[in-house]
Order: sequence, then structure tokens, then C-alpha cells
Amino acid sequence: MYNLLKGKKGIIFGALNDMSLAWKVAERAYEEGAEFVLTNTSTSMRFGNIDELAEKCNTIVIPADATSVEDLENLIDKTMERFGGKIDFILHSVAMSFNVRKNKPYDNLNYRYLNKTLDVSAISFHKLLQVSKKKDAINEWGSVVALSYVAAQRTLYGYNDMADAKSMLESIARSFGYIYGREKKIRINTISQSPTMTTAGGGVKGIDGLLDFTERMSPLGNATAEEFANFCITLFSDLTKKVTMQNLFHDGGFSSMGMSLRAMTMYNQALENPIEPESYD
Ligand SMILES: NC(=O)c1ccc[n+]([C@@H]2O[C@H](COP(=O)([O-])OP(=O)(O)OC[C@H]3O[C@@H](n4cnc5c(N)ncnc54)[C@H](O)[C@@H]3O)[C@@H](O)[C@H]2O)c1
Repeated sequence: MYNLLKGKKGIIFGALNDMSLAWKVAERAYEEGAEFVLTNTSTSMRFGNIDELAEKCNTIVIPADATSVEDLENLIDKTMERFGGKIDFILHSVAMSFNVRKNKPYDNLNYRYLNKTLDVSAISFHKLLQVSKKKDAINEWGSVVALSYVAAQRTLYGYNDMADAKSMLESIARSFGYIYGREKKIRINTISQSPTMTTAGGGVKGIDGLLDFTERMSPLGNATAEEFANFCITLFSDLTKKVTMQNLFHDGGFSSMGMSLRAMTMYNQALENPIEPESYD
């Protein structure tokens, strides 16, 4: 370990269980000397085992629904109280789509669900940044990271309205990154992670085939949750002070590929017995 976060304080959203990307970040941040509070919705706290993580990282969980400004204000106040001052980093690792959950395809969206998707998965990031700025909760040269996916730039079958949410999330990181950087020297980035088998990841249509495809397409292979955590720690550390308003691909090279030999070999095998989809669902 490198003590990269020694003396730093933060908030980590979105650890549900030990598969969660946020869970891995919490473990690594603790190893690197950070102190932080964990947060999630009360419902997720019941379904998952965040208390176990809190015990391991010698910290507490402050429940908050990331779509509620009131909850976010309470979270920031309680966190600052606990640390006796400002914090240095925040991880926003939050997403949910009812359209995906209820199998509503993109050309038959339920708009109430769409609003919820955008609120939970993108607008909550704006709310978090706005509350943090109003309360002047983050130290100069602090760092905020949110989690994105390549579906923000390219269309991937089945990712549904989450693609719109991720595009918006990345845009918020840029727009708020300008203002927060200009006024408080705080950096805001998104990390666009490889598909990873987590509770949210498992909900993506055709996840098994997708994981195999991206593994074959990426020269370095899919990035694991542990590798994600390592990358995230560097963004919270002082080693990346001038990186802001970026969407950083952490995907083994997938986003720059068009076709790889490994994927082509697999595809050529299927050509011997080609099958067309029976429906688009
Ligand atoms: N797993 C992947 O393949 C993958 C790839 C790229 C990006 N991501 C993104 O990573 C992030 C974390 O997902 P994960 O894969 O670790 O899955 P996960 O299911 O472990 O985490 C999702 C978290 O969002 C939380 N959440 C949902 N609604 C919330 C709300 N209203 N307020 C607060 N928290 C709420 C859940 O409780 C859960 O802890 C998400 O933004 C996801 O889109 C995941």
C-alpha cells in the first residue's frame, strides 16, 4: 500500500454487497489511509450487507436517498460533523432503471420510470454537487468521481434508458466541473468501467455474452472491480490534481476497438451456422 489517501476524508455512495464497485473502493480507500462515511438507501441497507463493510472500515453508514436534496443535506452535515470539517473526496456509484427492471424496451418506455432513471442515475449527481458546493463541504483540490458506461457514447443492445442517464451524468461532470474547478479548485470526473458482474451489472440484458464479447475485444481484457478501485484511488489522490471534466475509460481498451482477432475468430465460427434474432426484445 502507498498511503495515497492518508489524512483524506470522504463519502462513498453505493456499496450494496461485496460485489459492488463501491465496496471495492471502500476497501482500497481504507487500506490507503482514508477515513470516510458510507451511504446508501435504507432499503438497500436492509437487502445488502453494508454494515459489515462499515465495521471492516471502522466507520458508520448514514442512510440517504441520492434523489432527495433533504437527505443529501443531512448526509453532508452529519459527515462534516463527524470529521469536524470539510471532506476531500466523494464516490457517486448509484444507478437504477425501472424500465430495465420491468422489461420495458427503449421504444416502449414508461416515462414515469424514465424520469426516475434520470433522477437516480444522473440528476442525483447534480444534486449532490450542488448541496456540497452550497455547504462548502469539499476542500480545495478535492475530487469527485461518478461511474459511467460506454453506452453514453455508443449504442449497446439492451442498455435501454440507462444510456441516456449516463450521457447526462457525463455532461453534468463537465458542466459542474467547470464551475467547481473555477471557484473551488475541485475536480469532477466520470470513470467509464468495463461491464462487471455486480447486482446492477447483472441486470444488463445479455450480460454473460456481453462480458465475453468485451473480454475478447479488449486488448487488456475486461477491467475487474478491484482494478476499478485502484484507478479510483489515484483519482482521489494528489497525483491527479489537474485531471478534471473528463470521462476516463477504464475498459482494457474496448472503447477504442472496432474488431479484434479474438472476437473475429468467434464470429467466424458462428458464420458456419448463422442465426438471426427471432425478435428484437
Ligand atoms: N457493473 C457494471 O457492469 C457497470 C459498468 C459501468 C458502470 N457501472 C455503474 O457503476 C455504479 C455502481 O453499480 P454496481 O455495478 O457496483 O452495482 P450495485 O448494484 O452494487 O450498485 C448500485 C448502487 O446504487 C444504489 N442506489 C440505487 N438507487 C439509489 C438511490 N436512490 N439513492 C442512493 N443509492 C441508490 C444501490 O443501492 C446500489 O448500492 C452504477 O452507476 C453503474 O451504472 C456499472
